[in-house]
Amino acid sequence: MGFTTGKERLRILRKANYNLFNIRAEHVLIDLLTDSGTGAMSAEQWSGIMRGDESYAGAKSYYTFEKAVRDLTGYREVIPVHQGRAAERILFSFNGGPGKISVSNSHFDTTRANAEASGTRVVDLPAKGALDFDVPEPFKGDIDTNALKKLITEKGPKSIAVCIMTVTNNSLGGQPVSMSNLKKVSSICRSSGIPLLLDCARFAENAYFIKIREKGYRSKTAAQIAKEMFSLADGCMMSAKKDALVNMGGFIALNNRKWALKARQILILGEGFPTYGGLAGRDLEAMAIGLREVLDEKYLQYRIRSTAYLGEGLLRHGVPIVRPPGGHAVYVNARKFLPHIPPGQFPAQTLICELYLEAGIRAVEIGTLMFGRKKPDGGFLPAPMELVRLAVPRRVYTQSHIDFVIEVFGKIAKRKNKMSGLKVVEAPEMLAHFTAKLKPL
Ligand SMILES: Cc1ncc(COP(=O)(O)O)c(C=O)c1O
Repeated sequence: MGFTTGKERLRILRKANYNLFNIRAEHVLIDLLTDSGTGAMSAEQWSGIMRGDESYAGAKSYYTFEKAVRDLTGYREVIPVHQGRAAERILFSFNGGPGKISVSNSHFDTTRANAEASGTRVVDLPAKGALDFDVPEPFKGDIDTNALKKLITEKGPKSIAVCIMTVTNNSLGGQPVSMSNLKKVSSICRSSGIPLLLDCARFAENAYFIKIREKGYRSKTAAQIAKEMFSLADGCMMSAKKDALVNMGGFIALNNRKWALKARQILILGEGFPTYGGLAGRDLEAMAIGLREVLDEKYLQYRIRSTAYLGEGLLRHGVPIVRPPGGHAVYVNARKFLPHIPPGQFPAQTLICELYLEAGIRAVEIGTLMFGRKKPDGGFLPAPMELVRLAVPRRVYTQSHIDFVIEVFGKIAKRKNKMSGLKVVEAPEMLAHFTAKLKPL
């Protein structure tokens, strides 16, 4: 357990250049940096690990995994990769490039970076109201279908390489996408010949939200709902580090055989042979089990409820959050919480540093450090939001850990007006938030 004193934390934070990615995990008390790969595997998954077949080609574990993905998604072609971003890189290397557009409810940061690295232009069309964080609409992860139609008419369907629906929408509050929105997107894409893929890292949480929030789905199981979601798309990319309940893994699943052939060629170049794709046989076993376990509705009920509990606690202390709370995380609206710190001084990054200094809690900034851009004229474009994401690892923390986080926010809320911002002293062009160096103003 990462117990440290306040003095030690100040020294650690300075040494880490005010970037919490640079802090050793052993110096963190409660780690809400990400829900990605940080969950606890079940006894069943660990026993699956013992059964791993490590044959180079045609391992039994691959076929166990392939069946689990086919049963879940209905897609025939199943391509394992080491994690979500490998799936993105593969997709955009054969289906992207200059002159092409990738459109989405919101691209996750690595999805955006992989698309842009291939020369593909990225367009996010979140539903109207998605950026209105105070309004607790049930499906703020939806895409704006009118804007999608307009884009297709203006640019022509041929210029749109892919439409990606991120379920749930991680970059905008972990908000779910409704089935009715997926149906509309599916019909628009199918009539225009645009491939529709799900970025399905959190498909089970999304399916459960549909069950409890959307009319007509109460009596369906999460598995049935997930299957319906997949049936509306042409394929998916998954970071299995989330809703497959594993520490490492991912896959692409498709129906289009031509695409699958292209994907497998690139897979062999960078990941490995198509029946292991950058993973060990044992990882494939654990993924196959996780994909089934995650659809246990008792688990999903606990998961969604415990995240909501954190959000409700913060609201009680007057901490503004993206409402309603997301599935895997609560997002604090740092722009509203610290209105005296302008976006150029990174209010969300300032808040995560304060959380660490106060109690050794680690969170992540989703704001100008992550999404701010240099303009062609040399100016600077801040992100449209300044959020602090408190991501809850799966099957790890108890209510008392969460109560402690709420208590710490209560303390910070009392002295928030005295906090001041940060400035960047060094940052790379792409994915700056991982390695940027900052210092207090
Ligand atoms: C929605 C979404 N897509 C893709 C990824 C990338 O996956 P990975 O970290 O496994 O490369 C993430 C990771 O957080 C994600 O949240």
